Amino acid sequence: MRKEVVLITGANGEIGHGLIAHLGSKKNISIVAMDVAPLDERLRHSCEHFIQGDILDTMLLGRLVAEFEIRTIFHLASILSTKAEYNPETAHRVNVEGTLNLLRLAVEQSSWQGRPVKFIYPSSIAAYGLPSLEIKKKVGKIREDQWLKPITMYGCNKLYCEQLGRYYTYYYRQLAADHGHMNVDFRCLRFPGLISSVTIPTGGTSDYGPEMLHHAAQGEPYACFVREDTRLPFMTMPDAVKALLMLECAPQEKLTQLVYNVTSFSPTAQEIYLRIKKAFPNAVVTFEPHAARQAIVDTWPADVDDSAAANDWGWNPDYDEERAFNEYLIPSIKARYLQPE
Ligand code: SER
Repeated sequence: MRKEVVLITGANGEIGHGLIAHLGSKKNISIVAMDVAPLDERLRHSCEHFIQGDILDTMLLGRLVAEFEIRTIFHLASILSTKAEYNPETAHRVNVEGTLNLLRLAVEQSSWQGRPVKFIYPSSIAAYGLPSLEIKKKVGKIREDQWLKPITMYGCNKLYCEQLGRYYTYYYRQLAADHGHMNVDFRCLRFPGLISSVTIPTGGTSDYGPEMLHHAAQGEPYACFVREDTRLPFMTMPDAVKALLMLECAPQEKLTQLVYNVTSFSPTAQEIYLRIKKAFPNAVVTFEPHAARQAIVDTWPADVDDSAAANDWGWNPDYDEERAFNEYLIPSIKARYLQPE
């Protein structure tokens, strides 16, 4: 009999770290992790199996289907927004074709198992695109179905993959099979910027938040690549992991949509700086906006409406801004870099 496992792609990434560290402590879960690079040593003991390989390698994915009974897929592998702009076509291949490959794998698994495999997909505030700063300021919180005109390849990829998830769930092979049931149980979260005390993201455009914090904690100066007044929604990594697991566990009949906003707090870059300065009085931060990256975050919403997630599956973050900095980020990062209190 094949072994029942949870498959996590992009295992070495920020969310991968947070999720594997959390799931690895649970006795009844076997993790099959996948990444293009060798697995981070710190995650090894939490994973039953590690596959080093590319999500574009369909042969490799085929072998995976044959070997394991996959209950849930957390498809985290992705090229983030800033990095994607340097090579949009490569980003498209990884972000879209890679997701397509995983969706097909999920459908195949579901049909073997006779039940839909859960496919948990992190989308992003990058799926939004507000036309001007004035409108960004005016509209405030936005719903899942508003302002969907992304200006980045990453944002376009995320928005389209949300649609692919819907297509594979309800319509794939309908004409050929006419079976009228879910092919796969696709569930998606639109994440805001994420901040972890353990890892730093690479290639994103909300990275100034975590970068500012990690530089300050290590006593290094930081040139912030957006203006002081830039406002974006953020949440802590523990809350991101909590959201992924809550959505995974939610009873299907409670879900009224496939894509859910989740968020916690919405500081400006200046407000992040002030919190950091309070904890690390010697922090040196300058604001040196990078025009292209600034243009990207100016199209992302200042806040998102996550009431659908709250109503349907009880979403509620553990860390508001105060708790995020005072009870999670600052103490844990001080411990990490061994700064005296
Ligand atoms: N944090 C991501 C980025 O900046 C957005 O999802 O690209």
